[in-house]
Amino acid sequence: MIVSICVGSSCHIKGSQKIVELMKNAVEKHHLGDIVTLCGSFCQKHCDSPGVTVQVNDTTHTGVTVEGFHDFFNNQILKPALAEKEGF
Ligand code: FES
Repeated sequence: MIVSICVGSSCHIKGSQKIVELMKNAVEKHHLGDIVTLCGSFCQKHCDSPGVTVQVNDTTHTGVTVEGFHDFFNNQILKPALAEKEGF
């Protein structure tokens, strides 16, 4: 699973560095380092959204915020990663 966090100017202002930090910690906490590859990206052309843009494989998620990070991580990364780990 490739998780690409936008670190373009607009997302940077909206807290992408904090999202990167939260993401690294969550991946480490759940031992997903062998499944999840984290990377940064330049602008993904969704600057109008209220939060940071994060691409998970081929799906783009806009509006990721520090406040909403926990739900985003659980639903879009943890659950699919665990399913992948279990071979589904
Ligand atoms: S800077 Fe992130 S979508 Fe444009």
